[in-house]
Amino acid sequence: MLTETDTKARGLADLPPVHSDSLLALIAMCDADPRPDKIDVGVGVFRDGAGNTPILKVMKDAEQRLVDTQITKAYLGSAGDKRFTELLRPIVLGPHAADERISGLQTPGGCGALRLGFELIATANPSARVLVGTPTWPNHPPIVRATGLEISEYPYYERGQGIIRFDDMIAALKAGAPGDVALLHGCCHNPTGADLNEDQWREVIRVVVDRGLIPFIDLAYQGFGRGLEEDAFGVRQALDACDEVIVAQSCDKNFSVYRDRVGSLFVKTGSKSATATAMAHVGQRAREMWSMPPDHGAAATRIILDDPELRGRWLVELTAMRDRINSVRQRIARSDPRLAYIGQQFGMFSMLPLSKDQVVKLREEESIYMADSGRFNVVGMGDGQIDRFIAAVAGALGG
Ligand SMILES: Cc1ncc(COP(=O)(O)O)c(C=O)c1O
Repeated sequence: MLTETDTKARGLADLPPVHSDSLLALIAMCDADPRPDKIDVGVGVFRDGAGNTPILKVMKDAEQRLVDTQITKAYLGSAGDKRFTELLRPIVLGPHAADERISGLQTPGGCGALRLGFELIATANPSARVLVGTPTWPNHPPIVRATGLEISEYPYYERGQGIIRFDDMIAALKAGAPGDVALLHGCCHNPTGADLNEDQWREVIRVVVDRGLIPFIDLAYQGFGRGLEEDAFGVRQALDACDEVIVAQSCDKNFSVYRDRVGSLFVKTGSKSATATAMAHVGQRAREMWSMPPDHGAAATRIILDDPELRGRWLVELTAMRDRINSVRQRIARSDPRLAYIGQQFGMFSMLPLSKDQVVKLREEESIYMADSGRFNVVGMGDGQIDRFIAAVAGALGG
């Protein structure tokens, strides 16, 4: 017999609540704080010494050129701006740029590239597991799970000591089955800042090859760590050694076009024809999800990369962003031996050895906003706020 609940149609009113992303909740809390000297190191964007996230000057000029010269906004197709992807090849793939077994397409940011890459894996091998070191960027697990793939987590980072749990990482990768996927941060690990060094990359890729795993490299911050070329070391190692590699790339940070959603996905298989088939699936998945990526940011980025003068200016502005990240890191590292590890790390993020209670206290008493985990953005604050931040953190850590 049908009960009343069985027969009642389920509607939108029956939706369960969503536990909102804790970083979004943090932004809302910081926005609502009226204290004028509040410090927002929870934010995930680069800020300059004045505490702003300006549009790069070269990007402004490229956008103007785009507006002046664009003669149509007709559809481009699911691969987006093909010249954009072609110009990215030497930057992302380096000496492998001419390898015809590697194909790429434009995506809506790094997120779009991640989703699409995992859709491809799920299409090829729905029982593949995705090996993920924790902590990781909080959006990685939901993106992977949305494709139906299973995640297997291993500990990546020793918070108290600020070091990578490399033996645990290797053990976890060795326990992977052929066809499983190793999700790796290309550089500027988010949230820890703890990047694999060159020897560690070699070892990781050796194990990946031995176990028949597929390296899936998330390259969201190329140029923010050591340099454009240096930050792609892991990608190059994977391409040297593996027949199958996926790279999810983002221009949103290194061109400072966050909201324009600029990224790309590169796929390598063992043969040109297998890559063509894989890209046909990728195109199909893209068509189902967003049809085609937004044009504006990628078109302006393409204009920069296609013009030696603009490209040179971009490299100067990118270097200035990297230099600021690294100089703030050094300043914080020098301030307290307990924070010295921050000077050895790369990218915008690091984790402070603070408990959740200490983080909440900093928020309430010092108006300093960071994630509950102690993750903070070293360039979330302007130059004028750094000393106060350092003093407050030292106070929280205790004598
Ligand atoms: C590790 C990592 N991957 C990917 C992304 C996604 O970048 P995008 O804004 O281009 O989608 C981010 C953004 O914060 C990130 O931190």
